[in-house]
Amino acid sequence: MLRIELLLSLWLAIACSAAATPVVAAAPPPDFTPNPSIGGGGSKYKDSSHFRVYNAVNDSVANVLLNTLESAYSCFVGSQGWRSPGLSFKSENDDGPFYKTNVYDVASLPGAAANTGTDMSKGFSFLNVVTQYMSTPAVFVHEFGHAMTYAERYWVDQGRTGAWWETVANYVADTFITSPLCADARSKYNQPTGDTLIELKKVIGDSFQVIVDGTKDSGNYYQAWPFFTYLINNPDNYTGLGRTVFPDVWRKYKRNSNETPLHVLERLASPTKIQTVVGRYWARMAYVDIGHTKAQALFQQTKKTINYANLDSLGSGKYRVKSARQPRYMGANIVPLKGSGEISTVVTAGSPFKATLVVRSSSGAMRYTELVNGAGKVTVGSGEEASLVVVNTPDALLLFDPFSLSSEANKGLDYQVALTGASI
Ligand SMILES: *[C@@H]1O[C@H](CO)[C@@H](O)[C@H](O)[C@H]1NC(C)=O
Ligand SMILES: *[C@@H]1O[C@H](CO)[C@@H](O)[C@H](O)[C@H]1NC(C)=O
Repeated sequence: MLRIELLLSLWLAIACSAAATPVVAAAPPPDFTPNPSIGGGGSKYKDSSHFRVYNAVNDSVANVLLNTLESAYSCFVGSQGWRSPGLSFKSENDDGPFYKTNVYDVASLPGAAANTGTDMSKGFSFLNVVTQYMSTPAVFVHEFGHAMTYAERYWVDQGRTGAWWETVANYVADTFITSPLCADARSKYNQPTGDTLIELKKVIGDSFQVIVDGTKDSGNYYQAWPFFTYLINNPDNYTGLGRTVFPDVWRKYKRNSNETPLHVLERLASPTKIQTVVGRYWARMAYVDIGHTKAQALFQQTKKTINYANLDSLGSGKYRVKSARQPRYMGANIVPLKGSGEISTVVTAGSPFKATLVVRSSSGAMRYTELVNGAGKVTVGSGEEASLVVVNTPDALLLFDPFSLSSEANKGLDYQVALTGASI
């Protein structure tokens, strides 16, 4: 009885509050209003429902670009419910007005194929695309990823999210081009499925780096996006992760806190610990088992080119991580093992880590065995292969800025491995 009464009063509360303040925004119009003041406008343009492109060399270039952007819009805003860049990011509601997003064909940009400009007072972004990239979705859909991140508001002006904008934008570009998540939107606009943008030599070969490292030239912030692919595909079925990670990673950001995206993810994944999630992400990256068929196929073709030289032998089955390759904050080492039969290992370190023994069968079936107190064993059958994955997972998240890594974020995990039944 109590239960029914509670449910009833809860229902009444929801029904009454919904009547008092509608939570469902007005439906957007099919054609958004032009917004020529954003980015400067011009007299030569071409329109689609949600975009206006200025200064394309001819109509066919303009139409192809508009059609591709409408396809991306249909996937992310239409199917996945991301906030429309037609809305101002200065607006607290989603009622409109809705404006077309401007795209400018520009002759050149310093050191870039494209970038995203903003009108911070009106709260709209616009895309600048260098002429020769006007037909390259990997370039301008990436920028559209920035436009959608702006539209989602809460990461704007939060410096510690800064480098992650590139990670998100490349997730958007790769997902648009390759993912089943965008398959309907691609087919609706006759867009081909293309090659993945994944850069395995960087994301795996330099997996020791901070999980998102914005260091100029050496960082990984453009390559780190498979982490998001993993979170969205959620092959481990963690509650709170999966398709809702976007837009939750923006909408559940603690406003004006300048916290990092990992802090939001920690709350989304709770009660699963974020350290567990990151540990399993890297374990799955040993064989790119993150629900991305094209990335996994590319891994099988190119794995021999990846740098796995992470450990030095100390003799007698003992190894120590090379100091230059010690996993930084939430970074990892993936260590392919030679051997079969029973393999056991003990990993020791002076600070917290997650370690996993990963076994892949010749058919691609996977087994993940998390080490307990640093110890674990697996049996590797004929035709199977195994790897050890060690991840630097401090107990508490750092408030770190990937563009300016603190010594804490850059502190490597110094660990040793004892192996029985296998070598490296
Ligand atoms: C439009 O411009 C592109 C890029 O310069 C060119 O390849 C294409 O042939 C042009 N199309 C028409 C119809 O002029
Ligand atoms: C996650 O759920 C899917 C669908 O129910 C299932 O096929 C898969 O085995 C689950 N994965 C794990 C790791 O439990």
